[in-house]
Amino acid sequence: MGKETCLLTQQTNHINMKAMQAVIRAVDFAVPSRRMSNEEFSAFLDTSDEWIRSHTGIGYRHIAEPSVATSDLAVEACKKVLEKTGIAPEEVDLILIATATGDFLGFPSVSCIVQDRIGAKKAAAMDVVAGCTGFIYALETARNFILGGGARNILVAGAELLSRVIDWKDRNTCVLFGDGAGAVLVSADSSDGNRGILHSVLRSDGSGARLLERTEGGTRFPFKDGVIDPARTYLKMDGRQVYNFAVKVVSEGIVDLMESNHITTDDLSWIVPHQANVRIIEAAAKRSKIPLSKFFINIEEYANTSAASIPIALSEMCSKGLLKAGDLILTFGFGAGLTYGGNLIRW
Ligand code: UT7
Repeated sequence: MGKETCLLTQQTNHINMKAMQAVIRAVDFAVPSRRMSNEEFSAFLDTSDEWIRSHTGIGYRHIAEPSVATSDLAVEACKKVLEKTGIAPEEVDLILIATATGDFLGFPSVSCIVQDRIGAKKAAAMDVVAGCTGFIYALETARNFILGGGARNILVAGAELLSRVIDWKDRNTCVLFGDGAGAVLVSADSSDGNRGILHSVLRSDGSGARLLERTEGGTRFPFKDGVIDPARTYLKMDGRQVYNFAVKVVSEGIVDLMESNHITTDDLSWIVPHQANVRIIEAAAKRSKIPLSKFFINIEEYANTSAASIPIALSEMCSKGLLKAGDLILTFGFGAGLTYGGNLIRW
């Protein structure tokens, strides 16, 4: 081997040794323009702005028009992200849409519809069904595809149209949810070994599967000709039990994620929790002895958008100048499944 070739080999090895990271290059979101206030519920339900605000922190939610489906919101958010990064749709290798409210009952996935509509001709596409924790699961899936060398550019979105699956006569659930989508582009990047999605914790507890469910329409209780009970197709929830579960896993999970990465609250710029109920966030902050000011909260405007809540929050934080390159942040979510988990991200 000649001297020149030898040098080249050494350089190549040096380049390869730089750690590949899964970096979030841009974030954006889409919500329907129709903004529904708490007061509007009082016209047809025994509830009030006072009850909803004091029990949940919710003031408004955005509700899609009848012609809109989940993929429409996901497409809008994904297109905005691609425009921001200048990445062409053909450069996207994988589309991961976290959703529990697909356009169809599993056939086809929302991500395939998005793939076609944005023109991502070379992309694989799959949905991630992990309830409100879906975006966190999808981010960790993206990180592993990138570290494994299977993809370089991945669109990850959380997209939900919960207004279509709630019972508008059930005050226990319908006041809690909203529609929306948030998306990020995760790319392979070896320029800075400290940036990107650094670590995640993903967990599940299927013993609580039936605490949050849509009973009818799946293979357990399929639709039968002529006997559709709408109430059994809507989302129903044991709110109190989910509340208790959430406070426990959020408070313990955040501390676990910090301890396993040898960091303290002082190292974190923000904790970005799933926006289900401001009281869950307050109780988890108190239990984990983390100041509430570390938690980003925007539930007042959007209510619970399930898998979309964290990317919508990240996008709002960016546009408000609250997230800077180099900031260390921690996401944490919980939801149907039951599932829970979090990501540690160097922005
Ligand atoms: O994203 C993950 C999924 N969802 C969640 O994380 C939600 C978790 N759970 C919660 O956030 C809370 O448990 C709720 C907000 C759902 C309920 O709040 P709560 O303080 O736990 O209320 P509760 O269920 O203990 O109900 C208290 C009372 C009940 O009346 P009675 O039985 O005491 O007479 C409810 O019927 O509040 C009543 N209530 C309402 N009253 C007015 C329930 N919903 C309403 C309402 N307006 N919208």
